[in-house]
Amino acid sequence: MDFNLKGRTAFITGASRGIGKAIAEALAAEGANLGLFGRDLERCEQVAKELRAKYTGIRIAVVPLDLEQGTAAIKPAVEQGVKELGAIDILVNCAGGAYRGRLTEIPDELWEDYFAVKPLGLIRMTREALPYLKKSPQARIINISGTRGREPGGVSVMSGPINLGTLSITKALANEFGPYGITVNAICPGSTDTGRWTELVEITAREKKLSIEAATKHLVADVPMGRVVVPQDIAGLAVYLASEQAGMITGTAINVDGGRTRGIP
Ligand SMILES: NC(=O)c1ccc[n+]([C@@H]2O[C@H](COP(=O)([O-])OP(=O)(O)OC[C@H]3O[C@@H](n4cnc5c(N)ncnc54)[C@H](OP(=O)(O)O)[C@@H]3O)[C@@H](O)[C@H]2O)c1
Repeated sequence: MDFNLKGRTAFITGASRGIGKAIAEALAAEGANLGLFGRDLERCEQVAKELRAKYTGIRIAVVPLDLEQGTAAIKPAVEQGVKELGAIDILVNCAGGAYRGRLTEIPDELWEDYFAVKPLGLIRMTREALPYLKKSPQARIINISGTRGREPGGVSVMSGPINLGTLSITKALANEFGPYGITVNAICPGSTDTGRWTELVEITAREKKLSIEAATKHLVADVPMGRVVVPQDIAGLAVYLASEQAGMITGTAINVDGGRTRGIP
């Protein structure tokens, strides 16, 4: 199937590793040009180098950006990306994370730091990209939320409001920007095999007094599909949501969690 992504330009935050990197690779494989945004310039350059070697005929810009620095940093970063690539057709807001711990263990500063990246950084990034997205014939915003936005609790208490806020802004923007032809959707990963999975396994092992192997088995046993989600599972859906074929899908949020979330999504 031709997703009509060849020559489109995707700006991706959190592109230095994990899910963002997998989405960058999947879009590159479809022929999209990439703006890779991240704090760790060296790691982003490495991703660009790998993708340039693998996929010819695409253009890649690497733009340093710490979303915690707010609009003063985000505005010039978006402008730099547009200067290098000329357009924005797809915005993937992937950067983020959440401190893992119980409510009483998390100091205010950590709440503020993580919220500055998601949803606040996502809101600011979207605001700066919107004038360019309005000019695109196939404009897409894809926000990476998380299943904890729908099923809060445990050591992921901070992920709840961060990801729920992301779902709320996704729906609001879909309503507002549909008339401009911009679709806005969210993907909710379940626990996914990035650095965050390793951390979850270690915390589970510590809290339940299990070995790392036993803690891994314990977590995987909770997933009906019987394995942990990998970043490529998320990337496949991101490509589809960015495609021409997904033009009538907007304002929705799709779990990619192997069925782990209980209840109706
Ligand atoms: N993995 C999971 O289990 C899981 C589950 C649900 C939702 N999610 C969501 O999926 C997204 C990606 O997660 P991941 O697992 O791929 O995480 P990851 O491997 O920890 O990567 C996080 C990415 O966010 C970037 N980032 C963090 N703070 C930033 C800041 N202040 N400014 C700019 N970039 C920043 C990092 O860039 P640097 O290289 O500069 O640090 C990195 O590229 C996140 O929004 C996360 O909430 C993940």
